[in-house]
Amino acid sequence: MDSILKAEFEEKLLKIAAATDEFEGYAHAHAVRIAVIADALAQTFNLASHDRFSLQQAALVHDIGEAVMNREYFRENRLLRIEERVDMQRHPVIGEQEAAKQGLSRAVQLLVRWHHEWWNGTGYPDALEQEFIPLAARILRVADTYAALTDDRPYKKAVSKEEARKYLTEWAAIEFDPKVVKAFLALENLPELASYAEREEKQTETAATPAPQTFETPETETTETAIPETSEPTVSEIPETAPPEPKETVEENSEQNAAYSQFWDNYK
Ligand SMILES: [Fe+2]
Repeated sequence: MDSILKAEFEEKLLKIAAATDEFEGYAHAHAVRIAVIADALAQTFNLASHDRFSLQQAALVHDIGEAVMNREYFRENRLLRIEERVDMQRHPVIGEQEAAKQGLSRAVQLLVRWHHEWWNGTGYPDALEQEFIPLAARILRVADTYAALTDDRPYKKAVSKEEARKYLTEWAAIEFDPKVVKAFLALENLPELASYAEREEKQTETAATPAPQTFETPETETTETAIPETSEPTVSEIPETAPPEPKETVEENSEQNAAYSQFWDNYK
């Protein structure tokens, strides 16, 4: 691909990223932010340049399947019904197909397909487990979650950097590869790691005169994400193995169903 076509292709991916961000209701550029965080992680794992390139492209289009499906419930502030959740879980496969249509490589297509796989094997669509999930997809899962937690969406305010780091730690060895979480917690000096909750507070504190608001100020301090208000965990607290895995189906346990529902709603 010559340089002009390459630039046009990158421009197309950035447009897809922006359109998907808008569909998902993120207050700020989400997919590009994920691409930057994911690439920083990829470098700590010494990923080859072609793998880093695939990861960056996958980050830009990872939720293209949601935009293609265009379901109202993606943006509604409520728990999803079972059938909606099943439908929502099709978005990585639809995204894989759409990535193929857009001319992206098979490597990128598969990263899109596997960006919701969980370390403990309970993710979707293929329920891959641990190292059966490619490292780049495990990195994408961590970067996507952190960026989602720390940005505003219509139904969920951004949490602080510390709360998001604690969340990743608590779900390490369950949803996330613990080695990727450790690498993430060691990242520093990356502007994309700042939470928009904190940026907003700083802007409010330092503004001498009213400045144009780039996003809405929350009326309350409450969030829907149940993160305990304890101190931030250290790297050494990350479990190497997953705790016992609940095996009931979501229908069999209403309490678990509600927890899973909230979880999926946060990260669909
Ligand atoms: Fe997704």
